[in-house]
Amino acid sequence: MGEFDDFNRERVVSILNRILEAELAGVVRYTHYSLLVFGHNRIPIVSWLREQANESLLHAQQAGEMITHLGAYPSLGIGPLLDSHKHDIAVVMQESLETEAKALALYRDLLGEVAGRSVMFEEYARQMIYAEEMHAGEVVKMLRKPGTLAGSFG
Ligand SMILES: [Fe+2]
Repeated sequence: MGEFDDFNRERVVSILNRILEAELAGVVRYTHYSLLVFGHNRIPIVSWLREQANESLLHAQQAGEMITHLGAYPSLGIGPLLDSHKHDIAVVMQESLETEAKALALYRDLLGEVAGRSVMFEEYARQMIYAEEMHAGEVVKMLRKPGTLAGSFG
């Protein structure tokens, strides 16, 4: 931790551990969904879901590195894994949007803790909020009916 950082280390580590767990849950969730796509659109959807699994793993690793940067112990836990047993792609996308919104809220909590207190952690939180909002925007576009600009989630 930089000598000028004055954020609450315990709170930041606790949020980072929840981020780590949420991102690891994303790895499992997207991998699971990717195994359950059938039909003629299978190939691009499977590869998109696996990209999301890889991105969640990268995000988990980044959160973990931030935890050890603070000299703290990374959680070995994993966030909640719900299986609706509905594998319709729109349902999968909607579930993804809801769980990603929870991760986004954690990154916002993190930003609230570090804003103006640590350039490094503030930069990290802002980058992650940017990445997660871009991701949510992409999912919203995928949920729109072709030919429409604003869908029910837009
Ligand atoms: Fe993420």
